[in-house]
Amino acid sequence: MLEASRLRGFLNVKFLQDIAEDAKLWSAKVKDFCEVRREMIPIARPIITEEEKARILAILESGRLAAGEEVQEFERRFAEYVGVRFAVATSSGSTALQVALEALGIGPGDQVITTPFTFVATSNAILHCGAEPVFVDVDPFTFNIDPNAIEDALRTHPRVRALLIVHLFGLPCDMESIGELVSRHELLLVEDCAQAHGAEFRGRKVGSFGHVAIFSFYPTKNLTTGEGGMVVTSDPEVARKARLLVNVGMDGENYRYEAVGYNFRMTNLAAAMGLVQLGHLEARNEARRRNAKVLTEELGDLPWLLLPQEPQGYRHVYNQYTLRVPERRDDLLRYLQAMGIGCRVYYPEVIPRTPAYQKLGFTGRFPRAERLTQEVLSIPVHPALSPEELQAVITAIRAFSPAGGRGK
Ligand SMILES: Cc1ncc(COP(=O)(O)O)c(C=O)c1O
Repeated sequence: MLEASRLRGFLNVKFLQDIAEDAKLWSAKVKDFCEVRREMIPIARPIITEEEKARILAILESGRLAAGEEVQEFERRFAEYVGVRFAVATSSGSTALQVALEALGIGPGDQVITTPFTFVATSNAILHCGAEPVFVDVDPFTFNIDPNAIEDALRTHPRVRALLIVHLFGLPCDMESIGELVSRHELLLVEDCAQAHGAEFRGRKVGSFGHVAIFSFYPTKNLTTGEGGMVVTSDPEVARKARLLVNVGMDGENYRYEAVGYNFRMTNLAAAMGLVQLGHLEARNEARRRNAKVLTEELGDLPWLLLPQEPQGYRHVYNQYTLRVPERRDDLLRYLQAMGIGCRVYYPEVIPRTPAYQKLGFTGRFPRAERLTQEVLSIPVHPALSPEELQAVITAIRAFSPAGGRGK
């Protein structure tokens, strides 16, 4: 049995005490691991350099805190990065989604096809603008919306005007099939790129395929401004409407209100941070990709795990590295957490089955997405991981036995 003193420093001591009886089953590797690891390895850790601090301090000292030149520069540079004509900065990815849909004219009476396996902000935006989400199932290997399921739903839902797709965990959707559906059915396409800054499909960045797209800059994302978001488009009219909606419906600073808008503006403080982060985005995406490659090489032989896919022609930017663990996922989760390794289930429930959506009467079965909610587990892949931390994640997972007991 492990001595109590060795257990100190772990996040969930109680769990370790509960399973201490089983400790003799643990491999030597795990015991070594327990002795050397004292710090929690988080699932995400934003990298804030002296450069961000200096730029934010300069804004604080200037007193120009609200939206101004930094926001405009961030918008210009972000649009250039994605490869679109316009970008409108917002207070979050959620507000960007709402603005994007409203700027396209989506509203009451419209249906919008989307995925049930995402963060709830995606479909909430459809409801907030008065339209109706139509959920369709996902591909179990990419976790993204299944174009065949979209096609089926289009046959039975004549009021569908738009697709709201999500490039989940940093992997682009199948943009060839989706582009073909959009043209054939004359649909509007909205891309939720909240988790996919810099991801590419056949050399083209996500965010440049849709009539409009959005990004989130929440601290777990590949680029952060604390809170923040961006609407991007190459359509001047959509960009004009988005800008009005973000700024209380006002065109410029003349107190002339052209739309019933919101205050969803980004601050200069956030934009200053975003500008510095944008400069580091490519290098940090590459670091995520390198970490993912190591994880895939080191875990690839474990028969009880399915690893994330990067199909030919896709550039995955690994906002999350998400495993599928068909047996004993929850035991692996508790075991890793007890080891001080941050890991999370993204997502534990399909959106239509959450209490909020059940109250609204949503029904339907999504067998593949529902199965994923039982099997997925995201583990650290972020660019702030040290090589030792990455190795510790691998060692811990390799020492877990899915067949019962907690070690080989
Ligand atoms: C897929 C997806 N869409 C939308 C959002 C909303 O972004 P925010 O948290 O910035 O409002 C998120 C954030 O986690 C997300 O993951």
